[in-house]
Amino acid sequence: MRVVRTASELAEMLAAARAPGRRVGLVPTMGALHEGHLALIRAARAECDVCVVSIFVNPTQFAPGEDYERYPRREGDDLRAARAAGVDFAFVPPVEEMYPPGAATRVHVGELGEILEGASRPGHFAGVATVVARLFNLVRPDVAYFGRKDAQQVAVVRRMVADLAFPVTIATRPTVRDRDGLALSSRNAYLSPSERRTATALYRALTEARSRSGGDPVRAEAIMREVLTAEPNLQLDYARAVDPDGFGEPRPGGPVLLVVAACVGRTRLIDNMMLEGEP
Ligand code: PAF
Repeated sequence: MRVVRTASELAEMLAAARAPGRRVGLVPTMGALHEGHLALIRAARAECDVCVVSIFVNPTQFAPGEDYERYPRREGDDLRAARAAGVDFAFVPPVEEMYPPGAATRVHVGELGEILEGASRPGHFAGVATVVARLFNLVRPDVAYFGRKDAQQVAVVRRMVADLAFPVTIATRPTVRDRDGLALSSRNAYLSPSERRTATALYRALTEARSRSGGDPVRAEAIMREVLTAEPNLQLDYARAVDPDGFGEPRPGGPVLLVVAACVGRTRLIDNMMLEGEP
């Protein structure tokens, strides 16, 4: 595995690795790699000829006062895990390489980027779309892999790819969970043991809504709120049943995605599950 830190070195390395018919897979990450990331890397490894992982804690997707400074940074461990998983190139740029002096452009993905997570975290999705667009231009992947835990992020990236005609296929993989159902997230590292127990309420809210709502989105929202507001140490942000593509009202008879966000202590957690069928 080659560790690459500059855009020019990356271009050079990929030009040599890219040959006609060889597919390049990209797994964009902010590091603190866990099993969810490793599942994406394994998929890229299995389906592509060249596997690139980017590790970059992107400052523009954190709102002022969020956890940019304390976000877990474990480069040594991440590189060991990436190497063991068969990654060919780890792209680990410093901030100036992703935002060169004078960089001023931001990619805004319309209303989809302003609702739910976008409303609670102003500027978040513009930061995500901007850095992902730059990664797509630097790596020029055939396929880019994202985890379904960040369902709205996936929808934003798909919208951007369609609107700006990026020649990349977006592939997703299911959320990876701990044995008690908690969705794996780099931010779980912030949780104390008692917060960790409280955090499982997100999974319980989703699974109870699935099993008790009879497939009714309105009832599902009520059940999720009931479960989450019963937790004294959890602050509910939203618990909604939405259309999985646009994140607005579900279409009559169409698929419904349950999405939840809550703070446990100072840690903001999100999760989601389909109301019916494959979770
Ligand atoms: O999901 C993440 O880790 C980040 O939002 C991403 C896609 C790597 C962009 O910084």
